[in-house]
Amino acid sequence: MNISLAAAQTIRGRSTIPGDKSISHRALMLGAIARGETVIRGLASGEDVRSTMRCLRQLGVLIEENGNALRVQGGLKKSATLLDAGNSGTTMRLLSGILAAQSFDTTITGDASLQRRPMRRIIAPLTKMGATISSRENGYAPLTIHGGKLRGIHYPLPVASAQVKSCVLLAGLHAEGETVVEEKIPTRDHSERLLHLMGANVSVSSDQCSVISVRAGELHGSEIEVPGDFSSAAFFIAAALLLVESELMIEHVGVNPTRTAFLEVLREMGAKIEIANLRNESHEPIADLIVRHQALRGTKVFGNRIPLLIDEIPILAIVATQAEGETHIRDAGELRVKESDRLAALAHNLRAMGAVVEELPDGLVITGPTKLRGAEIDSFGDHRIAMAFAIAGLLANSPTTIGAAECADISFPGFFEVLKNVII
Ligand code: S3P
Repeated sequence: MNISLAAAQTIRGRSTIPGDKSISHRALMLGAIARGETVIRGLASGEDVRSTMRCLRQLGVLIEENGNALRVQGGLKKSATLLDAGNSGTTMRLLSGILAAQSFDTTITGDASLQRRPMRRIIAPLTKMGATISSRENGYAPLTIHGGKLRGIHYPLPVASAQVKSCVLLAGLHAEGETVVEEKIPTRDHSERLLHLMGANVSVSSDQCSVISVRAGELHGSEIEVPGDFSSAAFFIAAALLLVESELMIEHVGVNPTRTAFLEVLREMGAKIEIANLRNESHEPIADLIVRHQALRGTKVFGNRIPLLIDEIPILAIVATQAEGETHIRDAGELRVKESDRLAALAHNLRAMGAVVEELPDGLVITGPTKLRGAEIDSFGDHRIAMAFAIAGLLANSPTTIGAAECADISFPGFFEVLKNVII
């Protein structure tokens, strides 16, 4: 489905955004292996989290939806059918960690995009732990996971990935001995926080690098409150900054510091963003964000900060087209193996809108400010590309059409309506 957007002048008002996708996947999966009942409020409504729910139900987990609250009864058994993770890398990688320790075999696949994404990064540590996993050539899905007894390992993460870290920790929950994951470059820590909340034998120490250890032990069913997804809020933060006379309050957003480097970068670019009503729920910090229009200048983003804003780079690239001077985004080669090759998708679509962009193997250099022109955008079926260019469309001098725009539903069903509601 194509969606056309006309230029907009200003956005104003209040928005609430769907629940955090990363926390939602983890809450469901940990609920599925915990003893007793887990009640989750504010679960993400997107298709990726639906994929996790569907897989868990196929594995015999009882999940009851009741308004805003969802009840999960722990307990897994062999699925009679193939699991389908759809478009969701988190579903496939985290669930594989759980499945590797079960007493049955499971095959898990995904859509065409997920079948092209690297899975060796989880096959390698799980194999070290004693699992047997077969895949297509090059470690691509479908994966058949022959579950069995695992042993703890010491694993320095070779790639800065919260999905790989979490996969190993989840496998470690059922392994003999201690499992230690060492990360030199910090990544989102939602798994560690939820494991604490649910009573796991987990400890985290941070010195030169973070060292996370887990031991086998029972998780107890818990009450989990899921905050709004910062990565979804990022599109609205950008729109309010870039459109003149805008002022937007985005309520109940997760502001875990391993997710909010985008705010720091925007501040360096000249933005003033207010964080109000900071509070804690289910071991996660939550706040309301107040954003006003502001002129911005270019900046440099690289190194250890990249994993802390990895999903915000598409919208950061749009912001960069409106900033004075050059914005350099480097060390972001991981973007080539996301739902699409995001560096190529960004360069292609930015050029179509008249932006000045240089594509590098590991990043982009964008020179602004440029008055964008309306264009036909190829979303490459990637939700974050579709939403980033929807915001770019608001800034253009003629209408913009986003192809296959329904892919926004992967993380943010209703995105276009929520956006329409704040345009004045
Ligand atoms: C996620 C981790 C990140 C991120 C993805 C969600 C998670 O992926 O891009 O959208 O929930 O752990 P990587 O761990 O592969 O970097």
